[in-house]
Amino acid sequence: QPSAQPFVPEDHSLPTLRAALPACKGCELYQHATQVVPGVGAARAKLILVGEQPGDQEDLQGQPFVGPAGNILDRVMAELDIDRSKVYVTNAVKHFKFIQRGKFRLHQNPRMSEITACRPWLLAEIDTIHPNVVLCLGASASKSLLGGTFALMRDHGKVLSTPYANQVIATIHPSAILRARDKDSGEQLYQFLRDDLALAWHTAH
Ligand code: URA
Ligand code: SF4
Repeated sequence: QPSAQPFVPEDHSLPTLRAALPACKGCELYQHATQVVPGVGAARAKLILVGEQPGDQEDLQGQPFVGPAGNILDRVMAELDIDRSKVYVTNAVKHFKFIQRGKFRLHQNPRMSEITACRPWLLAEIDTIHPNVVLCLGASASKSLLGGTFALMRDHGKVLSTPYANQVIATIHPSAILRARDKDSGEQLYQFLRDDLALAWHTAH
């Protein structure tokens, strides 16, 4: 089954991981993406944020959370007075998965097999940064670290222990707020994200 493991260097320092990442063929997703998107942030961050995968803008710019979801994340962080440079931001899957529809590239959810294939990169990042808390943004990151059957809406906002990290918290993905049916549900999801991020930050510091 597909895995990034053969491509992950033994030395997990961030520059070494970053240098090795573009050669990864651990699953099929490298084939169509523009580039791989490494994590960004402080090597000694006490909190890691894990998204799903790069979106259209991230794929083009090579940086995580610089598109519409990133704008939501920036808004929540500004509201909580948390500087992005104080955390480390990465994704469960490092290549953009999409289908082409005319001139648009539509996001596709990664499969469990792709999330699992890419997990060795995430685990290497967690290993070298050794944060106090890992915050999973959305279902895909939660599946990576908390298992394929994790129930996000039931168990978000709880400090959980896993084999991969002592303290993992799951929350809503910022994109869920953009996709919300109406204003009320959007605001509720925004509050979940804000409260869970506040919990993660305070637990980590
Ligand atoms: N959504 C994610 O999960 N990650 C990104 O980097 C951008 C959008
Ligand atoms: Fe490797 Fe992850 Fe990209 Fe798949 S998505 S090719 S495992 S970096």
